[in-house]
Amino acid sequence: MTEPRKIIIDTDPGQDDAAAIMLALGSPAEIEVLGITTVAGNVPVALTSRNARIVCELCNRRDVKVFAGADKPISRPLVTAEHVHGKTGLDGPVVEEPTMPLQAQHAVDFIIETLLSEPTGTVTLCTLGALTNVAMALNKAPEIAARVRELVMMGGGFFEGGNITPAAEFNIYVDPDAAEIVFKSGIPIVMMPLDVTHRVLTYKARVEKIKAIGSPAAVAMAEMLEFFERFDIEKYGTDGGPLHDPTVIAYLIRPELFTGRDCNVEIETKSELTVGMTVVDWWQVTKRKHNAKVMRFIDDQGFFDLLTERLARL
Ligand code: BDR
Ligand code: CA
Repeated sequence: MTEPRKIIIDTDPGQDDAAAIMLALGSPAEIEVLGITTVAGNVPVALTSRNARIVCELCNRRDVKVFAGADKPISRPLVTAEHVHGKTGLDGPVVEEPTMPLQAQHAVDFIIETLLSEPTGTVTLCTLGALTNVAMALNKAPEIAARVRELVMMGGGFFEGGNITPAAEFNIYVDPDAAEIVFKSGIPIVMMPLDVTHRVLTYKARVEKIKAIGSPAAVAMAEMLEFFERFDIEKYGTDGGPLHDPTVIAYLIRPELFTGRDCNVEIETKSELTVGMTVVDWWQVTKRKHNAKVMRFIDDQGFFDLLTERLARL
């Protein structure tokens, strides 16, 4: 048996972030969650910090440490996505307000301290929202870059285009300056773009299977997905919306579900029209250095089987 992989989940819950957190907490043999750090994104950080704790409590994991992070992008006004996730960011099920406390330490300091205190190359950063906290940590303590095992992110899009503008995916669009810092940091990056997540659709039968597990966590998850998919079903005209963030965690558990290739990725930070675009050199037409493994395809049924199996373990 190999040791579980140590991770920090940086997140802006978000129903799909909640699915990612549940997948991680349901997989203790493979994953040890050192902490959850929250960031402003889908909704303001006070709500993402509330929602992260609600998810931990739904999983009976009041012991998980949750740290509040940046309340706005590095140098731009915050853009939120209540139109997708609802007013609270976690609309769908009826939930109790959380009672577990937030940690006193700032998320950025927790990220730095953890990377400096754990052995080099043992901590994986899983980012499910804007990259503000990680970029702030890199600005404050650049030496952490060399200590990260890998950063697996949900963000960007290439062949699929964008979902918040024609060119940009939401997480990168919210804080493109932070994304630029991260992509230039030298940290080994795995990117789950819309090209992957738009293949992961919450078909009715898949959500019903999750609901049928019957536990409070699984039923709440199914109700979140039912809410979350409404907007996307209308937008994309599919039977089910894309489930983005848990692909990051699934990659840690079952990397063989994904295929992609090493590429150079640059972030557009200037153009008004395409700000937040991830410019992926998929066809290797430049000599720019590879800085990310960009995923493109997923075994979507294999992914849903894994998610359902692990939700049943919570
Ligand atoms: C990403 O944006 C957020 O709304 C989702 O939680 C996901 O992380 C998809 O573009
Ligand atoms: Ca998210």
